[in-house]
Amino acid sequence: MDKKFSKFSFELGDFYPFQNKHDLTIEQINTIENFHKLYFELLEKKSGLQISWLGHQTGKTPSDLWLYQELIVKNKPDLIIETGTHWGGSAMFLSTMCNILSFGEVLSIDLYPKENLPKADRLEYLHGSSIDKEIFDKVKHKCKNKNNVMVILDSNHETSHVLEELRLYSKLVPLNGYIIVEDTFLNGHPSHVEFGSGPYEAVDLFLKENNTFVTDKSLEKFLFTLNYNGFLKRIS
Ligand SMILES: C[S@@+](CC[C@H](N)C(=O)[O-])C[C@H]1O[C@@H](n2cnc3c(N)ncnc32)[C@H](O)[C@@H]1O
Repeated sequence: MDKKFSKFSFELGDFYPFQNKHDLTIEQINTIENFHKLYFELLEKKSGLQISWLGHQTGKTPSDLWLYQELIVKNKPDLIIETGTHWGGSAMFLSTMCNILSFGEVLSIDLYPKENLPKADRLEYLHGSSIDKEIFDKVKHKCKNKNNVMVILDSNHETSHVLEELRLYSKLVPLNGYIIVEDTFLNGHPSHVEFGSGPYEAVDLFLKENNTFVTDKSLEKFLFTLNYNGFLKRIS
């Protein structure tokens, strides 16, 4: 098969599913948490739960990828910034959406260039620490003339790093736009207690010092996500 994707035409629909925040019982929450733990138990055994998009590995779950698809189609960000590229599968997924829509582009940031990062139209990589001044200056430059920047934070998961990313990158997000904090499940929310303080705690601290964002629990509609409390929407 040709390794370059081909252009095709399609009709964009206008059904934007809306889901209120689920009102869950303790038993239902326990079921979700047990499923989450089972997912990671099997993933970490490398027994087949790894995920790929167009042949490129990603650490995201199918439900979170689907959610990103819906969010991108509905909100139409003209720039998606991802901190934490790793294998490039998530960057490839996001840029595939932009290419299908012929709208928007992706900037994915990681410390070092990894080997064989996937190339795609509308996808650019940047190398350096996401909180480094020089890197953030380049990000701000990229945001010039952009009206709807969406940000996904998935790099170093220590609380101090994520909090610093939130402080910097939230400034780039417009009213009704999103900054998404990945992997809030760490430190017992509900798994990986041994990790210690992580992204979940950074979200808590950020929301205490910043009242222009709220957690959008409606985006936890698929029940299983790696980003509990991590979907932050700008409200003012
Ligand atoms: C969880 S992985 C990213 C997974 C990827 N987004 C996906 O969904 O498949 C985290 C990545 O963040 C990178 N990273 C760690 N510290 C970073 C920093 N300070 N700035 C940018 N990237 C960083 C690591 O090198 C690693 O590749």
